[in-house]
Amino acid sequence: HKHLINISDYSAEDITRILDTAASFRAVNERRIKKVPTLKGFTVVNMFNEPSTRTRSSFELAEKRLSCDTLNFGGSSTSTVKGESLRDTVQTLCSYKIDAIVVRDKHAGAPRKVADVSGVSVICAGDGKHQHPTQALLDLYTIRERFGRIEGLRVGIVGDIGHSRVCGSLIPALKIMGAHVTVIAPPTLMPAAPEILGADEITCDLDAALPELDVVYMLRIQRERLEGAPYPSLREYNLLFGLTEEREKLMRPEAIVCHPGPVNRGVELDDYMCDHPQRSVILDQVYSGVLVRMAVLYLLLGGTDNGVDA
Ligand code: CP
Repeated sequence: HKHLINISDYSAEDITRILDTAASFRAVNERRIKKVPTLKGFTVVNMFNEPSTRTRSSFELAEKRLSCDTLNFGGSSTSTVKGESLRDTVQTLCSYKIDAIVVRDKHAGAPRKVADVSGVSVICAGDGKHQHPTQALLDLYTIRERFGRIEGLRVGIVGDIGHSRVCGSLIPALKIMGAHVTVIAPPTLMPAAPEILGADEITCDLDAALPELDVVYMLRIQRERLEGAPYPSLREYNLLFGLTEEREKLMRPEAIVCHPGPVNRGVELDDYMCDHPQRSVILDQVYSGVLVRMAVLYLLLGGTDNGVDA
């Protein structure tokens, strides 16, 4: 592959290769000197036109730990505020002989457009309500670390399904890897035609679904979408769809809780579940983000093998 824009372009074999490569980078990240010369001489532009904490910081760390030169670019400090188009912006950056662009943008389809006009490798870091493929890969990595497999696991994805780019990549990724996927949400947060998501089951009843699940994947409730809406209020949402200490009693003993972050504590997760020492893997997901992004950069750019099996 030259790009990572849509996870559905990748097969189970491709995804397994990324996860295995990510696992081999674990050793690098656990040394005192967390750096290998694998991508020395390569230049990657991180073009973030929307806010980010986890994705942006872990891409930058992944690039630095692979000895890549990085250029962080985007947002209100660029000439896009003077009206410069995405095409002219990208072609300007490409004049520097760069090797890849990591793109986060509020517009669905922006990474594909960047790929079309740039000619370099493009990695989608979240576009509108469309895709977030490296998030799906780090989720798969985290789940595989805990269970030793993905195939056959029962995964429930709970919350704002309709507006979620995490779902846009995670559901197809889980299906490609052979998991069983249930989406769980109030009708107001489901897309108009939920069957196109490709999930195995669709329900509004979290309490009925919970006892079956190995992985409970809570999505961020986008407060701006709920406030002012007739149903549900944040309090009603927490009551019916929040993962609380009380609701934990319905979970299987070995079940885990995932969340892509940032978490609205007290809405989709209470503090007890968010910080649960056995069940919550939220900070493991953050760490997996560096490993998986190192693997994607290495596999797309084809650096030296130096450090991969270190
Ligand atoms: N999960 C995720 O994409 O988080 P950020 O928006 O902080 O990058």
